Amino acid sequence: MQNLKIFIAGHKGMVGSALVRLLQIQNVELITKNRKELDLLKQQDVQDFFKHTKIDQVYLAAAKVGGIYANNTYPADFIYQNLMIQTNVIHGAFLGGIKKLLFLGSSCIYPKDANQPIKEEELLTGKLETTNEPYAIAKIGGIKMCESYNRQYGKSHNIDYRCIMPTNLYGPGDNYHPENSHVIPALIYRFHEAKVNNLSKVIIWGTGTPKREFLYVDDMARASIHLMNLDKKTYSEQVASMCSHINVGSGQDLTIKDLAETIKEVVGFKGAIHFNTTKPDGPLRKFLDSKRINNFGFKPAVSLKDGLAKTYQDYSKS
Ligand SMILES: NC(=O)c1ccc[n+]([C@@H]2O[C@H](COP(=O)([O-])OP(=O)(O)OC[C@H]3O[C@@H](n4cnc5c(N)ncnc54)[C@H](OP(=O)(O)O)[C@@H]3O)[C@@H](O)[C@H]2O)c1
Repeated sequence: MQNLKIFIAGHKGMVGSALVRLLQIQNVELITKNRKELDLLKQQDVQDFFKHTKIDQVYLAAAKVGGIYANNTYPADFIYQNLMIQTNVIHGAFLGGIKKLLFLGSSCIYPKDANQPIKEEELLTGKLETTNEPYAIAKIGGIKMCESYNRQYGKSHNIDYRCIMPTNLYGPGDNYHPENSHVIPALIYRFHEAKVNNLSKVIIWGTGTPKREFLYVDDMARASIHLMNLDKKTYSEQVASMCSHINVGSGQDLTIKDLAETIKEVVGFKGAIHFNTTKPDGPLRKFLDSKRINNFGFKPAVSLKDGLAKTYQDYSKS
């Protein structure tokens, strides 16, 4: 990795900033642009940037991201912005002669009735969850774009564009918006508010029985760097050219009730948790099969409890 020039698209986001934290202690040159300097929705600007900047590797961690409420309320923004950002970056990188790129997707690419644990081969075997279908379709488009570029130009242009699909992520720099956030930041926000306002209870939507998997963002950044730098022979032996994306999860899931109890303890809220069972639960289980990335030599290092404690520390500082 010595002296590599690495562009991180979305370096200010939760995953992008974890990539910056990990990569900046290695002997590499990081290239970053904020949205004012380079709006990734602007095709010509993106192409000019890649044409005039010497880059060895691209981490594509820029995206429009949000929870169920945001996905349901702004479906046009989610499909348009994600398709545009990833298309501009992948095609721009190709035109700029960049050989290595890692596209970050999400576990919502899988059908809602996928077999559990969800193997990579479950992609495109059934209907998607309706709430985030536009976002998922964009992400599937990103995977298929990388695969198609590899298939058409892999040999002639020596390009190697890979895709990594993380489970639910959490950690420092998460989005704590009361309506637009994911489950962990939303619960941290609500337990913290209940603690400082001396409330007697926190109400959580659903029955608390669905199970979910969570990965600390620094583990995700480590997995991304690991996959990006895996030698081509090892990588191509394990993946098919039209099913080349790689799952990354923590390998453990838990119920929303257990998650809520753990966050309550980490935050130090002394009141009760009530479940509003008239509200929808969502899928009963969403658990990734992470054997491929594990076989490539990656294992997560941060436990949920430690990760939540670090995340709450970061939240309390902000
Ligand atoms: N968070 C999760 O639980 C999760 C789970 C699975 C997969 N992922 C994937 O991981 C990736 C990163 O997610 P994240 O949680 O780090 O998201 P995030 O915190 O919202 O960060 C996204 C980044 O993209 C940048 N960005 C968005 N639109 C842009 C544009 N038009 N031009 C330039 N920059 C733009 C944002 O810039 P600003 O700072 O200017 O807004 C921000 O830095 C995404 O592909 C997401 O799908 C996330």
